[in-house]
Amino acid sequence: MPDPVLGVLTVYKNDQKFIEWEERQFFQKLTAAGCHLGLEVVVLTPEDVDYRKAEVHAQTFQPSKSKWIRKWIPLPPLIYDRFRYHAGGRVLQLRQFRQSFPDLIYLSRPLADKWTVYKKLYQNAEIRPHLPLTTTYTSKEDLFRTLKSSRVVYLKPIRGTGGRGIYKIEKFDRNRYILSERDLQHRIVKPVKLTEGQIVSRLEKINISSNFVIQQGIDIHLNDKRVHDFRLLMQKNGEGKWEVTGCAGRIGPKGSITSNLHGGGKAVALQELLNRRFNDNAQVSSLRHQMVRFSHQVVRDLEREFGRLCELALDLAIDREGKLWLFEVNSKPSREVFSRIGDRDTYWKAVRRPLEYALHLYEQESRLNNRMA
Ligand SMILES: Nc1ncnc2c1ncn2[C@@H]1O[C@H](COP(=O)(O)OP(=O)(O)OP(=O)(O)O)[C@@H](O)[C@H]1O
Ligand SMILES: [Mg+2]
Repeated sequence: MPDPVLGVLTVYKNDQKFIEWEERQFFQKLTAAGCHLGLEVVVLTPEDVDYRKAEVHAQTFQPSKSKWIRKWIPLPPLIYDRFRYHAGGRVLQLRQFRQSFPDLIYLSRPLADKWTVYKKLYQNAEIRPHLPLTTTYTSKEDLFRTLKSSRVVYLKPIRGTGGRGIYKIEKFDRNRYILSERDLQHRIVKPVKLTEGQIVSRLEKINISSNFVIQQGIDIHLNDKRVHDFRLLMQKNGEGKWEVTGCAGRIGPKGSITSNLHGGGKAVALQELLNRRFNDNAQVSSLRHQMVRFSHQVVRDLEREFGRLCELALDLAIDREGKLWLFEVNSKPSREVFSRIGDRDTYWKAVRRPLEYALHLYEQESRLNNRMA
């Protein structure tokens, strides 16, 4: 087999062939780490592919010149899917690419939307108690029924938007609810008290439908009223085994209903945040173990259902009683939380792991080919 080359499959955000700034920075780091490991990294989008010739006008980063250049190359044998932008029908490009080139070695299969993932995990009796009650929005009755059993509910787009377009509805008194929001521009919208009718017309304005999930709200307020949760990154290592690469806390800005870093959230070391919440060392240590054990169960289950995966980031929460919850699972996670807490080792480990896993898959495939030759 030829030398291994890893193609990072991404997507242009607009017609100017622009790759998101943050992703480009990540790809530069991947290239540098690849150099050390003997794995060439190139970046491609389905729009750059000549489907007839199976060639691609790929971009490569030259660290010495700090410059991106383009070159036509045969499609790389290994594909790392970072296709994160699903708007504007772009997801069809991804499907066409995968269908046209099924024999490439993909590090992961695409994961389904929040609702499908939830339904799958719900089947596992050990995972189920850690999932906030969730349904899709089919009618206003669904919402108000959920509000009878949980005082607080979240409405979230079924396809994640990095903490944008999320609503929190809380029962205030017999006739009124408090609606809080992070809008599509990530602004913190001032909470308002509304009647049931007013909530309904507000939701009609945003065209709410089954593309939203209704989820039981979990109390994740710290004493200073900010919300917080945890980002745990699971990755396959160079032996193809799942490992926890790291876990860090996120604290939302004042008045925010979400903790996402892109929405102004602050990253905090795991131990520091747990110690702030629980005085008992034994409880903190047991929670840490529980988070790890639970995350292994989740990745095992999802991989069984959706096929090979290489990394997943879990948004975990621990409520005031010390109960562990899973908000969602991200299949194209950023590693930023680790650099933000100044943990460079974990950050670089998180960059390297998909490359090590790619090399592992490549070796396996080479061995198989040799045996068949
Ligand atoms: N059920 C809930 N109860 C309390 N807080 C929640 C709940 N669901 C979400 N949140 C808060 O909102 C944040 C964003 O929610 P979530 O992670 O589900 O969506 P997202 O980040 O927009 O999706 P994606 O990462 O796929 O773009 C969470 O990190 C958490 O801070
Ligand atoms: Mg999230």
